[in-house]
Parts: sequence; C-alpha cells; structure tokens
Amino acid sequence: MSTILEVKNLAKIYEIGYIRKRQIVAVDKVSFSVKKGEIISLVGESGSGKTTTARMILRLIKPTSGVIKFMGRDIWRDLRGGSDLRWYWRNVNGVFQDPFSSFNPTHRIRDFMYRAFNLFNEKLDRDTKERLVREALQMVGLIPDEVLNRRPFELSGGMRQRVMIARIFLIRPMLVIADEPTSMIDATLRLGILRLFSKLREEIGTTIMFITHDMGLAYYISDRIMVMYRGKIIEEGTPDEIVNNPKHEYTRNLLDSIPKLYTSWFK
Ligand SMILES: Nc1ncnc2c1ncn2[C@@H]1O[C@H](COP(=O)(O)OP(=O)(O)OP(=O)(O)O)[C@@H](O)[C@H]1O
Ligand SMILES: [Mg+2]
Repeated sequence: MSTILEVKNLAKIYEIGYIRKRQIVAVDKVSFSVKKGEIISLVGESGSGKTTTARMILRLIKPTSGVIKFMGRDIWRDLRGGSDLRWYWRNVNGVFQDPFSSFNPTHRIRDFMYRAFNLFNEKLDRDTKERLVREALQMVGLIPDEVLNRRPFELSGGMRQRVMIARIFLIRPMLVIADEPTSMIDATLRLGILRLFSKLREEIGTTIMFITHDMGLAYYISDRIMVMYRGKIIEEGTPDEIVNNPKHEYTRNLLDSIPKLYTSWFK
C-alpha cells in the first residue's frame, strides 16, 4: 500500500491573552503517515489536540511548524491558487466536530449540499445534481423532502451531523478526516453510518482518518490506532496491539473506560 498522507513534526502553538501572553502547545511535533485505503483512528481525551491536527491537515489552520504532504505534495508550500485548493478539498475533505459551525445559517440544506459541486471538475446538469444530493441524504437515513428546504437551525444536532456526512458521500474524497462524526447520532443509526464509511473504502478505496475519544469505537472500526495525549502521539499500533499490550499508563486508562460489554458486542 502506498503512503497517501505524511505528517512530519507538525506543531501548533496558540498565543492567548493580551496583557500577559501565554502559549498553548496544542499539537507538539507530531509525525505519522497514512497508507492508501487505511482506516486510522486518532484517540485521545478532550483537549489533546485532535481537532487542531485535523484542521491543519484539512488546510483550515496554518501549522506553526512542520510539514503535511498529501500524495507527495506539501499542502502549505505546493498548493497555491484556487484550482489547487479545489483539487485538494475534492480529494481531502472532512466531517467536523461541530456541525453548526460548518453551515451558513441563512442557507438551506439544499444550498449547502449543492456548494459541494463547486469542488467538482465535471459539469453536471441540475437533474443529476439533484439526484446525487438526494441519494446522499438517503444514505445517511434522512428523507430528502423533509430536509432540503430547511435551514440548519431547523434541524436537530444529529440531523445536521448526518447532512455533513451526506456531503462527504457526495464528494467521495480520497481521504476523509472525520472528527467525532457520529457523536450526536443515535446508537442504532451510528453503526449503519460507520458501515457506510467502510463501504466507501471498499468501493473506491477511500482512506479514513477517524477522530474520537471513544476507544471502543476506534477498536471496532480501525486498522490502526494512534493515541494522542497533551499534543503528542504517545502510542500507535493495531487495535489488538493497543488493547492487549498498551505501553502507556494513559492508554491503559483509556482502555479501562471501555465498558466490557461494548468490546464483546463489537468483535
Ligand atoms: N483557537 C484556539 N486558540 C487558543 N487555543 C486553542 C484554540 N483551539 C484549540 N486550542 C487549545 O488547543 C488544545 C487542543 O485543542 P483541540 O480542539 O485540538 O482538542 P481536541 O483533542 O479536539 O479536544 P475535544 O476532544 O474536546 O474535541 C486545547 O488546550 C485548546 O484549548
Ligand atoms: Mg476536538
């Protein structure tokens, strides 16, 4: 399998405060690589730097230092104009943790979904677009006629999250960064949606980076798990390696928090 994403010494330092400035090291020299078709999870407690890492890979915030390469291209040095960025976001796209922040509140769900077509090279006619949008919404258990004309605040959190996921199924990027994508979705629907992600991988070889603080979920869905703690990746391995032979105290604590029933239910 070839490497699709390479992250080297990635760091993000935030400066906060006006009178007395203070630095927060959100991500501290993180290095890892992801192979094409892999499902990799980034697991860690709240504030460990997961979302910051995701947003840097999605090219939404600029790293303080370090390099991110997608298919050999340095995403901060080699991508310049609008067409390079469209290429990037067509190929690397995400589901964000806070579904509300991703929506323009005045837009209807139809506008939000249609905007994804701006990333497409191919020209599609209105009927094709409408059909693709409806299919994607149905995949995540939404009824198109019920949501298309609504505005984001007229949907529940879980519904908004499903619209975000539907958008990913519409774009079908090569690499999906999914930051707590199902945190507001009922358990029954959640498994179905997770299966859709693996179907995407089977069908078109999508690579998925899954971000969660739920070790049970990570164990269930991933080929490889990376454990993040205070901005650093402290441990990495297959789910079985991590569960059977955790090296760090912190990883052991995370494992203890998985209900036993949960693990036996999954595997
Ligand atoms: N814009 C910002 N300005 C200042 N500090 C920030 C900013 N964004 C994040 N941080 C800080 O960086 C650290 C990492 O935050 P991050 O959102 O990446 O954590 P996380 O692992 O995604 O947590 P959670 O599981 O709660 O989503 C935290 O200490 C947070 O307070
Ligand atoms: Mg986060």
